Amino acid sequence: MAILEANGLTKVYRRAASEVRAVDGISLSVEPGEFMAIMGRSGSGKTTLLDLLGCLLRPTDGALEIDGRSVIGASDGELATIRRERIGFVFQEFNLIPSLTAIENVMLPLRYGPRRPDARSRAGELLDLVGLRDRIGHRPAELSGGEQQRVAIARALVNDPAVILADEPTGELDSATSRRLMTTLRDLNRDRGVTTIIVTHDAGVAGATDRVVRLQDGRVIADERHDGRGFERALSGQPSANGHGPRVWPRLRALLGRGGAR
Ligand SMILES: Nc1ncnc2c1ncn2[C@@H]1O[C@H](COP(=O)(O)OP(=O)(O)OP(=O)(O)O)[C@@H](O)[C@H]1O
Ligand SMILES: [Mg+2]
Repeated sequence: MAILEANGLTKVYRRAASEVRAVDGISLSVEPGEFMAIMGRSGSGKTTLLDLLGCLLRPTDGALEIDGRSVIGASDGELATIRRERIGFVFQEFNLIPSLTAIENVMLPLRYGPRRPDARSRAGELLDLVGLRDRIGHRPAELSGGEQQRVAIARALVNDPAVILADEPTGELDSATSRRLMTTLRDLNRDRGVTTIIVTHDAGVAGATDRVVRLQDGRVIADERHDGRGFERALSGQPSANGHGPRVWPRLRALLGRGGAR
């Protein structure tokens, strides 16, 4: 059974006189344990698709099932539970809370679920996993871009998600850090079976995955599977330029289960 199944998924943004069909009838099936990339030019709908798959956005039209269950009629509270229990987001912007330390940022999603006495040790283990054991007390401003991104990945993992949705996770990183990050994601995928979807402009990053879906004008124009054995070889790409304004707080609130999907 597919873990994510979209049929005719559509998101239309309406402005006064115009409308943008950001995602325009996408059908896509993702099996548990897949490690895949979504590519496409700026504005092709990648972030919108990821936000739909992660229940941060409600579609204008179409069907979406997670674990074989439709999420279309779900209440805001049900969507928040799905996001909290099943999905780990790594945003295009890092979305770390500036006043919190690395370990506090990683622990944050745990505050919105049932209490976990092991929250701090769990967050510490994840920071260790992403190579930041000696940075746990640093605030975001005291971390490099790559380190901030790794904190964001640790935070995405803290609830043991079945699916990781990562939007340009390597966009701000140099090629060595990017390679390390991809290795971490691949290990999680192999060792824990975490289904992983990575939006990227970087052909090297995409080449390290097993499946590449290409978008254009909100539609899928190609969906290719290949074996990811070229992993090490493929990971030589330069990080892509990335100049995106913040859409930070509404999305972070939604991630944390406060406020509904837009
Ligand atoms: N909240 C919004 N209101 C109106 N239009 C939007 C909104 N968010 C996105 N769009 C439009 O929808 C289209 C798809 O946007 P999206 O952010 O999904 O693109 P993307 O592929 O992620 O681009 P990038 O590579 O630059 O991040 C774009 O044309 C964008 O201008
Ligand atoms: Mg985007």
